This record gives sequence, C-alpha cells and structure tokens, in this order.
Amino acid sequence: MKFTGLLLGLLLLSAEVFSQKAYHLASPNARVNLTVNVSNEGKLTYALNLAQTSVVKPSSLGFKLQKPAISLTNFTLISADSSEFSETWNPVWGEVKSIENHYKQLKLRLKAIPANVLIDVVFRIFNDGIGFRYEFPEQEGFKHFIVADELTQFNLATNNKTFWIPGDYDTNEYLYNTTLFSEIHALAAAKKEKDIALQSLIADNAIQTPLMMKTPQGIYLNIHEAALVNYPVMHLMANTKTFGLTSHLTPDAVGNKAYLQTPFNTPWRTIVLSNKAEDILASKLILNLNEPSKIEKTDWIKPQKFIGMWWEMHVGKATWEKVGGKHGANTENVKKYIDFASEHGFDGVLVEGWNEGWEDWFGNWKEEVFDFVTPYSDYDVDALLAYAKKKNVKLIMHHETSGSVTNYERRMDKAFQFMKNKGFETAKTGYVGRIIPRGEHHDSQWMVNHFNRVAAKAAEYQIMIEAHESSRPTGLHRTYPNWLANEAARGNEFNNAPTLGLVPEHETILPFTRLMGGPMDYTPGFFKMHLNQFIPSRTTRVRTTLAKQLALYVTMYSPLQMVGDLPENLKVYPDALQFIKDVPVDWDDTKILSAEPGEFIMIARKQKGQNQWFVGAVSDENSRELLVNFDFLPAGKTYTATIYQDASNADWEKNPEAYQIQKVSVDSQTKRTIKIAKGGGFAISIK
Ligand code: NOJ
Ligand code: CA
Repeated sequence: MKFTGLLLGLLLLSAEVFSQKAYHLASPNARVNLTVNVSNEGKLTYALNLAQTSVVKPSSLGFKLQKPAISLTNFTLISADSSEFSETWNPVWGEVKSIENHYKQLKLRLKAIPANVLIDVVFRIFNDGIGFRYEFPEQEGFKHFIVADELTQFNLATNNKTFWIPGDYDTNEYLYNTTLFSEIHALAAAKKEKDIALQSLIADNAIQTPLMMKTPQGIYLNIHEAALVNYPVMHLMANTKTFGLTSHLTPDAVGNKAYLQTPFNTPWRTIVLSNKAEDILASKLILNLNEPSKIEKTDWIKPQKFIGMWWEMHVGKATWEKVGGKHGANTENVKKYIDFASEHGFDGVLVEGWNEGWEDWFGNWKEEVFDFVTPYSDYDVDALLAYAKKKNVKLIMHHETSGSVTNYERRMDKAFQFMKNKGFETAKTGYVGRIIPRGEHHDSQWMVNHFNRVAAKAAEYQIMIEAHESSRPTGLHRTYPNWLANEAARGNEFNNAPTLGLVPEHETILPFTRLMGGPMDYTPGFFKMHLNQFIPSRTTRVRTTLAKQLALYVTMYSPLQMVGDLPENLKVYPDALQFIKDVPVDWDDTKILSAEPGEFIMIARKQKGQNQWFVGAVSDENSRELLVNFDFLPAGKTYTATIYQDASNADWEKNPEAYQIQKVSVDSQTKRTIKIAKGGGFAISIK
C-alpha cells in the first residue's frame, strides 16, 4: 500500500487570478482531467474532461440546510492538499480475484461564508472516473444539522443519449427509456407503468441513478453514488434545456432530507467515464470508494446457486397463503424442490409462503403482519431442514416485511436467532408496499439506515442477506460481504407483469445502470416462455430465447443466482440445464469482450480457483453476429468449448425455446462468429 502526500503546487497546477483559485488534477493515466475552482465570489465548481473533451462543464457544489436555516454555497479556501494512493485488495467474492485501487486525491478545506461552517470537499481521480464527497469536520458552534437540499450539479457538456428511469422515492422497478437528454419526460414514462405496486413520482424531469449516457462524441459516462450510509438516496433533476443535472435527495415523512451530526462524510458522488463501453462495465471505482470489509472472519460467506418454491406462486400454480387449498409451501411439495436441488447440485432452496400472515399481507399499510418465526401448520420446518441436510441442500429463509419495517425491526433479532438455531444461513428480505414508519420512503435516510442495519445485524448472526424492493446498491457489499445481492430494479419476474412486462433490450442496459452499484438477484433461468401453463387466459410471456436465459448467468454478475423456472419446466431441457449446473457464481477474472448499452453485451469469466472459462452474450430485439476472440485463454492450451446458442430459426417472439448445442476445440488463437437470434444470446462453457 502506498499513500503519498505531495507538496501542493507540485502536482497541482494552482493558478491564482485575483482571489480566484483553480486546481487541475489528472488521473494516474492522465486521461481524466478534473478542474476545481473557487471563484472570486466564493463559488465552488468542478469540471471534468476526458482527454481534451469536456464532459462535465463547471458545476457548482453546496448545500441548503433546514436547521440551522443557512446556505452553504459560498466558500473561502483555507487550504488544499493533494495525495496519491495505490493498493491492491482481494474481495471475499467477486468478478475478479484482486482489485487495484489507484487514485489521486485533492482535498479542499473550506469555510462556508457567512455562516462560518467548516466543510471539506474531497475529490478522487481514478483512471476511469472520479468520486467526490463533502466532509463536515468536528468544529466549534456547528454540530447537529438538518439538510434541506444538497446542491450538487452535474452540468453535461452535450445532449447525450440517456438511459433513464423515472425518479421515484419508492421504486426502481421501471423499464428503461432511451432518449436524448433533452427528451426526458419522467411522468409520461411512469404513467405507462401499470404493474408497479407503489409509485411515488417526483417530477417530469426527475430521474434515477445509476444514470448511463453516451455523448455525441462517443464517450460513455455513468453517474451514481458510492457508500450510501446514513443519508437518503440521491435522485437527479434534469434541466433538459441546459443539459444540467442537480441532486435531489429523498425526503422523509416531514419533508427533511437528512439529520446529521459532525463529523460526517456524505456518500461519494461518482462519474465513471471512458470512450469504451467495456470500461464502464469493468469499472471498480464504486467498490474502491467503499470501506473495506467490517467482517473479519468471512469463511461462512458463500456465493450460491438456488432454486425456489417461488415461481409456482407467480404463475398461479400455487399460492403464498394457506387458505384456498393451493398452498405451495407445504412439506411434501418443498421436499420435491429439495430433491431437485440435490439431484442437480444446487446449493439452496428458497421457500416463500412458509410463514403465517400471507392471507392479509399486502395493501393495508398495517403494522402487524408477519412475525418471521411462525410456520404454517402444513410446513414442517424441522423435518424439512433435516431432509435438506441429508440431501446436502440449504433452505433459504424468506422475510417479506410488506413494508412494515418497524415490525421487522422489532422482530429482527428473534428472526435471525430462529434462523441461527435451525441452521438457515441466508435470508431473502422483501419490502413490497408502503413503508411504516408511515410517510417514510424506500429511499429515505431512515430506510437507507434500515437496509444497512439489516446487513450489519445479519453479520452478527453470520447470516447472508439479499433484499428485494430495497434502495439500489452503492457498493456496500465491499463493507458487508454477507450482503450478497439486491433486487432494486425490474427483475426477470416482471416477464409475468401483464402491461409492459420486460423488453429484449432490458438486460443489455441493466449492467450499465443498476449493476454499477452491486449484484442483482435477477432470477434468470426461465425455460418455458409462455406463462399460461396454469392460468390459460394469461397472455404474459418471457421475451427472450432460452439460450439468452443461459447467457444471463454470465452477463448479469451476482454471487447469488437463482434458477427461476419450475423443476418440471427445467427438466424438459436437461442438456440446456447442464450449463446452469456448470456455471459458477464466483470468479477469478472477468473480461468484458464487447458491449454497447441497449444493444448487446458479451463477457468472459474465469471460474474461481479453476482453469475453466464461461462466456455469455445477450442481444436486444435485433439478431446479430458476434465475433468471439478466445485470446482471453492462456496460450498453448487446447480446451473443449460447449456452445449453447439460438437455433437458426429461433426468435424470442416466434420460436423462443429453439437452441442448439455443439462441442468444439478452442485455444487462444480461435476466433468464431456466433449468431444470436432476435432477443437471443449464447453461452459457452470452456473446459
Ligand atoms: C416481490 C419480490 O420481488 C418477489 O420475488 C417475491 O416473490 C414477492 N415480492 C413476494 O414476497
Ligand atoms: Ca420486486
């Protein structure tokens, strides 16, 4: 590890024009160029270039406080320090075995005037972008404060192609819109959505992060945040005329944004940029801006593949609730899932609808719903745990809170203790519906703290967590590696939503947006694409080919991967299922082979601790040919590649389940063009 303090003026070109001060700082590879300016009037701005091209024009920084009622928008500079830092660290699990964290830092010590509040702004410049945050040091006369607004701007230099979802305090489960920045209309887009349980829209110009864009010059950039702790989720307000963005923090029940006390550091505001789309997907900037693991002993944390007593309910074969005679989570039925997981080598079985409360769980904004420890009478938890143990399978716990988070907070210790006593290792949590405390939002400071508290509390019990309907991740899985995944976006299950469902381009956008902050429980692995198997009147369907469902295990990185479909459907295609059985969930290395947001993604990954590679490629609604260059393989070795690809007549719409499998020899010299059907993809295992 190396941390070098450099003499101010050596690395920084500090120019003093009257009382104005400008600092220029370049990334270690000199490609990313940051300019920070404190003007004569005391305005603090930053601007960002990639090489010579302006990407973010001068953008101001500051705050409006509710208490004390002051603005922190004019500053005098006390001092500026620069430094350089470099380390390599190893994640507990991940896309790569080791991660380089190399940046230059500029720290401005400022005093806001006339309020006389000390505030530091820290910039870190990496080869693939920047992060910056505000730091409020401990100081005389300023301790407790309430934020009315954060006034961070991102003034874009150009009218970019933008991949956006409407700003919403309670959900991120939207389809992506691809428009010019000037054409953002969030309310119109949100109005088309009929299947999202709860919408809390902000304004026609409000959008969410991670926000992905491409400039007319072909520069890709992504705006998000890192290390969201004790602070609300940042949404963005777009000025479609000037191409400006301003931060908009999620309010709480009384309209305030954040209750803070010095010393306090805000989350990092991040801008990842490159002229190659592949670099955006490979970026580790957000992880690097998060704190190292707080969990010392991590050998109990395990990436895993699982199936679920789950899709049965979504497609109408069974119900979560016991009344009505179609209860899915009964002992006999769950045994069949355990048998299937055991036979095919899957680590776990998620069981939803196992506990009392589902008769009346949703939509009434009521406080007492589930207690998280009382199984339905037809669900013999001890017998099933014993049965699963015998079969070398783990049961995965389900904690649906239905948004009653005070209830969950009160019962969390008991719920985790129950898991610990019985031997459950992983819990899927869920937050469907309006939040209690009433008036709070999924994205407000109180809920952000809740999600983080669950990860910390679960770690005390050595329990792994994945959260559905949570706020979107910001790289905190570095700090809490027991936090394996989140949903926090429109998942594969939306294929069963009647109005808009999913579209074939969706999975070519998600890695550039939602996945920038962390892994997603996307639930791939659907083999039966028409979802009228049990309710013939249903018109919902999966809008991918079967081969694309396989590819998602590689392109949608997660240490927690579900095999979504029902065992009876998975059994229909045992040779395709073989890929899902083989594909690992933890990796030594990852190569983003080629990608374009909204069009296609092709990724190769090397299995953790094994000399085996896997490739996944997905396309949007267009068919295309992709050239796979196998030069990621070590030279001089011959491998057998098993290629799972769309059949020549496959098509997500007309013929989704048609695929073909072939085995070929490959080495590092091999180049091979593979055709993808409309809405299709391919997957390759290389041994
Ligand atoms: C929504 C989740 O995303 C889904 O996976 C789950 O089955 C239901 N809520 C019920 O908890
Ligand atoms: Ca959901």
